[in-house]
Amino acid sequence: MRDRLLAAEKVKAIDWRDGTLYLLDQRVLPHEQTWQACDTALGVAQAISSMVVRGAPAIGIAAAYGLVLAVIERYAAGGDWQMALEEDFDLLVNARPTGVNLFWALNRMRERLYRLKDHEDPRAVMEAEALAIHESDREANLTMAQLGAELIRKHQGNLQTVFTHCNTGALATGGFGTALGVIRAAYIEGMIERVYAGETRPWLQGSRLTAWELANEDIPVTVTADSAAAHLMKTKGITWVIVGADRITANGDIANKIGTYHLAVAAMHHGVRFMVVAPSSTIDMNLASGEDILLEERDGRELLELNGHPVGAQVDAFNPVFDVTPADLIDAIVTEKGIVERPDTAKMAQLMCRKRLH
Ligand code: MRU
Repeated sequence: MRDRLLAAEKVKAIDWRDGTLYLLDQRVLPHEQTWQACDTALGVAQAISSMVVRGAPAIGIAAAYGLVLAVIERYAAGGDWQMALEEDFDLLVNARPTGVNLFWALNRMRERLYRLKDHEDPRAVMEAEALAIHESDREANLTMAQLGAELIRKHQGNLQTVFTHCNTGALATGGFGTALGVIRAAYIEGMIERVYAGETRPWLQGSRLTAWELANEDIPVTVTADSAAAHLMKTKGITWVIVGADRITANGDIANKIGTYHLAVAAMHHGVRFMVVAPSSTIDMNLASGEDILLEERDGRELLELNGHPVGAQVDAFNPVFDVTPADLIDAIVTEKGIVERPDTAKMAQLMCRKRLH
């Protein structure tokens, strides 16, 4: 399976080359494929805030490379460069609030810096650490893809019709994807007949990005309005909702793209199984429950305009971009350390004690 997934890989969104970070601009996909070059931490922080790069794991990886750029610049300037680096750390850590992978990756980079030996070149050490974060996310996705596909096989043997939300593919991660990685693997194994992708208002990660990634691999995909999900569950024989997460708390609650919560409620009502796929870097054991997660709210104009053109009445608009799905609506959380079925605090703690499965 691993080899078949590797062979199917078509999309790459983060490229680190010769001391520059190149990001495939996700705001204009799929109709334009433009790469944005970043050579400062500020540039990377802005790319994260403005959604050039998005998806919790991809944001963490980009931020790690952003810190490498900062080390290169600060080290060359001399003086107390490690102190000066804190400014860059703050810039990056504040780029977006909800996905914990950003904080996880930056903390891992900072810890590596604290362990720096006198003879080591900080630029090379930090570059190696960022590359390792990137590579381990790809590996985690490969493992999760296989585990998730096995879970589908275990519960339902026949051809599945699945529903997914937002974009959790190669674009949102270090490669392959989380939920979309599972969908890819299950399709390769002949278990998936069709994928319904909610368009994911207002940024349209579903209709622009997920649909593009799946169509590139000839996986049958149908885009639908977000508000059609419950109707589809009733009429189209959907057996699984498969989504990613931006933060998972110690009790198994998850924050993900706005609309995930109502998908879980509708799935429970219709007897559709609900799978969350996320690497352990998305699990935040410091937060007891989803109530503690800071949920990003973006400018209301994102709801009232399309490509900068006003379409809605010029009134107040409330634009929360993530919501929390409580653990009791989740059938399984798939990570690279293993699967937690019917998550709760004890099972999440046990999972975090396990080693990665690859
Ligand atoms: O606002 P976005 O596009 O960054 O939101 C992304 C999501 O909500 C994804 O579902 C989540 O990050 C998981 S991606 C592997």
